[in-house]
Amino acid sequence: MESLDALADQVRQCARCRLSRTRTNAVPGNGAGNARLMFVGEAPGFHEDQQGSPFVGAAGHLLDTLLASINLSRERVYITNVVKCRPPDNRDPQPDEIEACRGFLDCQLAMIKPAMVVTLGRFSMQLAYSGVSISRVHGQPKRVGDVIYYPMFHPAAALHQPRYRSLLEQDMRRIPEILSSMAGTDPTPAPPAPPAQLTLF
Ligand code: URA
Repeated sequence: MESLDALADQVRQCARCRLSRTRTNAVPGNGAGNARLMFVGEAPGFHEDQQGSPFVGAAGHLLDTLLASINLSRERVYITNVVKCRPPDNRDPQPDEIEACRGFLDCQLAMIKPAMVVTLGRFSMQLAYSGVSISRVHGQPKRVGDVIYYPMFHPAAALHQPRYRSLLEQDMRRIPEILSSMAGTDPTPAPPAPPAQLTLF
């Protein structure tokens, strides 16, 4: 695959699983092609399916607010989902649907080469953690190869249960420091970094 645009075209034409038959639009992802920070959610919802862009509904507005809290906007990061088409009635994505879509996410990771992947919710958390509860591991960065995976609750959780909002805010606030202290270093712990501004490019 030559470019993210070509990959997005492939996603839009994809018929590898049953979700292609019920979608309005596939949602490949968007943002900066050279982002150091990538956010991976679960699957498009109603508004994302209508518009073909990720996180444009209520959860997306909260994600924008959380990004703004660390002086970022979505144009400076890359945002996508584990599954690129909306599951009917927003049901959970099925294992075979996740598997069918996995190659697209792998290509996005290979092309963008983010330093840090923030997983939003329990489905994308599986990229780095399996068999654990998100309540136990949220906010704990884990290096896998060259990439730091950082699990966070899904923003939609805070829309249903307000107590998740402060956990999301806390975890988000730690991203600049983790990025500057862990990214691009070997796995040995780096000395504590001063409060950091993100350098994304
Ligand atoms: N929830 C997700 O996981 N992804 C979206 O794009 C929107 C809502």
